[in-house]
Amino acid sequence: MQIHKSIASLRAARAQAGRVAFAPTMGNLHDGHIALMRAGRNLIKADTVVASIFVNRLQFGQGEDFDKYPRTFEADCKRLISAGVDHLFAPDEEQIYPQPQRFHVTPDPEYASILEGAFRPGHFRGVATVVLKLFNIVQPDVVLFGKKDYQQVMVLKNMVHDLALPIEVVPLDTVRTADGLAQSSRNNYLSTAERIEAPRLYQQLSKVAEAVRKGEQDFTKPCAVALAELERHGWKPDYLTVRRRSDLQMPEKPGEPLVVLAAARLGATRLIDNIEI
Ligand code: PAF
Repeated sequence: MQIHKSIASLRAARAQAGRVAFAPTMGNLHDGHIALMRAGRNLIKADTVVASIFVNRLQFGQGEDFDKYPRTFEADCKRLISAGVDHLFAPDEEQIYPQPQRFHVTPDPEYASILEGAFRPGHFRGVATVVLKLFNIVQPDVVLFGKKDYQQVMVLKNMVHDLALPIEVVPLDTVRTADGLAQSSRNNYLSTAERIEAPRLYQQLSKVAEAVRKGEQDFTKPCAVALAELERHGWKPDYLTVRRRSDLQMPEKPGEPLVVLAAARLGATRLIDNIEI
């Protein structure tokens, strides 16, 4: 695997790379990330698989964990090599933000101020801005994102569509541990007791999904039960709601493909998860 610290070096490699599958990350890689890299090789059958590691200051709000976000570069490189990644773009801040960023990609509030955006103002503006920049540098044909960050995928798919970028966005299923917990860098922050409790989020989402599949039409009912159950076990939920998949707005018509999404704090750690119904 070739490691590129500069845009110039990555661009020189891009010229020889053929059809490129790209998975942007912030590092601290887990099995979910590695599944994206492997899909680039095995599912997309790209000529070249490119990953990036860049902890993007722009997408962290005040009081969020930018400084304490785990930087595990050596371990990440080993995992990327064993997943068959050809090129890693690992710029420092000076490469990506040589001066304060003056142009931003601001998603419509309809996409970016709901759900995660309501609790993390400016988050999706920061994500969309750095991702467009990474796309311009890497010039991928196909990009891979995990569905655990469901709203992120929705925002970025719409960005690619609205800005007519010649890129295919491929969302991949969330990778879970044996007890159902979605793989996430944030799981590392959980204490032993919290780690045992953490799969309850997935269990409650599964119950809501099951109720809706069985024909429950008032989605608020199973969501209220799930929220109460989480609170009873010490969680502090931000939201747990059924939305339509395409734009994460409230469902309006019967038959629309749905997803149930949640975010909740367990101790000091905020976890998100979702299940397509
Ligand atoms: O999902 C992430 O790790 C980040 O939001 C991304 C897409 C790499 C942008 O910084």
